[in-house]
Amino acid sequence: MLNVFSPAKINLFLQVLGKRTDGYHELSTLIQTVGFGDNLEIELASRDSLTCSDPLIPVDHSNLILKAAQLFRTKTGIKTGLKVHLHKRIPIQAGLGGGSSNAASTLWAFNQLVGQVATIEELQRWSAEIGSDIPFFFSLGTAHCTGRGEYVSNLTHLPPCPCWIIKPPIGLSTPDVYRAFQLNNSGQPSKRYLEEILIGQYRYFNDLEQPAFMLKPELHDLKQTLMQKGFDTVLMTGSGSAFFCLGKGQTFSDHHVKSYSTCFINRTPYGWYKN
Ligand code: C5P
Repeated sequence: MLNVFSPAKINLFLQVLGKRTDGYHELSTLIQTVGFGDNLEIELASRDSLTCSDPLIPVDHSNLILKAAQLFRTKTGIKTGLKVHLHKRIPIQAGLGGGSSNAASTLWAFNQLVGQVATIEELQRWSAEIGSDIPFFFSLGTAHCTGRGEYVSNLTHLPPCPCWIIKPPIGLSTPDVYRAFQLNNSGQPSKRYLEEILIGQYRYFNDLEQPAFMLKPELHDLKQTLMQKGFDTVLMTGSGSAFFCLGKGQTFSDHHVKSYSTCFINRTPYGWYKN
């Protein structure tokens, strides 16, 4: 049995370059894994089964964990099933990549349990068939992603940085946020953003904030409140609704908004993420 950590991700910048004919959006995004995440207990079994600490999470075949198990069998020809227990902490509909991370962790663990029949590059390539955010998790934890998110380039690790994840009670559907997005930039990827960030001049932004704020104006209010708490950066992650706050600052908690203290993490080329 393997116990694997399944980290959340944050988008340090997310630029939407345009809408494609297949309905997806072309992206340029810098993504980072954090030490806040789920745990998966995974073992080989005669058939697939999934249980979860959170009764609200579907454990049927719509769950990306079971889709990942099936994908691994299809690609490798291996017949065995997987028994998985998911200890869920990453909120859903938050832009934190929880389901995608669970799928990547499942593929990695399945491959370990059967003696590494596939390479990391194969797992990464296959995973794009079941979700745009999954290939990122096969990077070392800091990566620039393009296409619909599936083309992944590893980057130098960023300096350690205290980070708060803030989750309001409302969630957002990813397709809804992309549908509300209006292109108002040149549609050109800006290498400048990446270069500036890599030399320590942080200019983090997210093109999906504006459509998310249009759909849920209370998210704009939450951002304003957080910006008055002294942080260097307050930004929505992915298609929302969670925010991350970087640097020194004072978060607040009430019975609606949840705050989680965490930090950037990276994995080594030889192992999976650890918290
Ligand atoms: O690939 P995934 O299933 O995670 O995407 C979910 C939805 O998010 C897509 O069906 C699409 O509506 C939207 N999306 C998009 N452009 C991307 C990634 C996702 O429009 N680059």
